[in-house]
Formats: sequence, structure tokens, C-alpha cells
Amino acid sequence: MAAFLTNIRYVAWSALGVAALFLIYMALSVADYPFGDRVFWEAALRWTHVLCGIMWIGHLYYFNFTQIPNMPKIPEEHRAPAIAKVIAPAALYWFRWGAMLTLITGVLLAWNQGYLLQAYTLGAADDPAFSAPKNVFIGIGMWLATIMWFNVWFIIWPNQQKALNINNQYPDLAADVKAASAKTAMLFSRTNTFLSVPMLVAMTGASTLF
Ligand code: HEM
Repeated sequence: MAAFLTNIRYVAWSALGVAALFLIYMALSVADYPFGDRVFWEAALRWTHVLCGIMWIGHLYYFNFTQIPNMPKIPEEHRAPAIAKVIAPAALYWFRWGAMLTLITGVLLAWNQGYLLQAYTLGAADDPAFSAPKNVFIGIGMWLATIMWFNVWFIIWPNQQKALNINNQYPDLAADVKAASAKTAMLFSRTNTFLSVPMLVAMTGASTLF
């Protein structure tokens, strides 16, 4: 058992397998939706969307609530070899790919429910006679999360690559340029932490309030 639990790959893949079988059994046998039914895919997409969202926002909160505030307490000589060279690059990997998969599953979820365009246009693509407040509400959440995704891929990640010299891509960068990149990444990461809270009101409230 210890051999299984000490290997994160075994744990992650088997958890995904058990969860998928559980979903398929509940949807097809107990709830009696045929395979390929829109509701079956909605359930599958909601599950994978929230799972990927946890991977992304979990790392965002790790950076903002754990790593950044505690960096000054780590002796200078340990910071670069442990955090900058090992922990932060690994965390950034799960962080940015979590963001990408959250966006993809979120877009598919909206598309599967038939309101992707209506939501992204904040209801403007609706027939005014049938304009649904839910589309505006979830659309605001989708825009907040899409802005956050943009910040991750096009501001935080490129600046962290410079600040931490990930994969030795920027070996000759001056110290002040590195510091400026680290500051930009931190400010946008903090902005995303702020945006994540109202964004989640829209995500979780859309199917509750409307
Ligand atoms: C990146 C862009 C994102 C898009 C396009 C998106 C899209 C959506 C859509 C369309 C729904 C279904 C709403 C409904 O009909 O009830 C949803 C639900 C949800 N989303 Fe997102 N989302 C995004 C990011 C996120 C993030 C970052 C999180 C963080 C964890 C998240 C967490 C959730 C949760 C918890 C639900 C509710 C699931 C449920 O009620 O069953 N989403 N999202």
C-alpha cells in the first residue's frame, strides 16, 4: 500500500479511473442517461472543469498565501536552490496547464449547454425576447476567468521564466530586469487572486440562482 501511495502517478491515475467509472455507472445505470446524451457530457465536463480549476486556483493560492509571504523568512542562500530552481518551476507547470485545461473544459461546458456565444457576448447574442440573465451572469464569470487565464499565459509565465531563468533561457539577464519581471508576475498573480473570488460567485451561482 505504501508503494502505491508514495507514487503520485499511481494515485492520480487510479483516482481518475475510479471517478470516471463512478460517473459512468451513476449516469448510465442509475440515472439512466444514454451514453452520448448531452446531460452525460455536461456531468463529465463539470467534473473535469472543477478538477482542473482546483489544480489552477490551488496553485494560485499556494503562491499568494504560502510561498510569496514566506519567502523573506527563508535564508537567502536557500531561496534560489530550493524555491526558485525546484519548487516554483514545478508549481508553475501545474499552475499554467491547470489554467489551460480549465479554460478548455469551461468553454466546452458552455458550448455543450448551448450558451457559449450568448455568455461571451453577455447576452447580446440572445434574441431580446428570450434574453436570459443566466447568460449575462455566467458570461461575467467566464470573462473574469478568461482574463485570469490570459494573465497566467501571457504575463505571469513569461515574466517568471525571466525572473527564475527557467530552462536557462535567460542566463545573462541583469539583476534589475529580473527583479522587475518578478514584480510584474507577482502583481498580476495578486490581481488574479482578487478576481478569483467574484469569478467563483458567477461559476457556482449560475446554476443555483437561475
Ligand atoms: C477559464 C475560463 C472558464 C470558463 C470559460 C468557465 C466556464 C464555466 C461554465 C460554462 C460553467 C457552467 C455554469 C452553469 O451552467 O452552471 C462553469 C461552472 C463552474 N466553474 Fe467555471 N469557467 C472558467 C474558469 C473556472 C475556474 C478558474 C474555476 C475555479 C475553480 C471554475 C469553477 C467552476 C465551478 C466550481 C463551476 C460550478 C460547477 C457546478 O455548479 O456544477 N471555473 N464554468
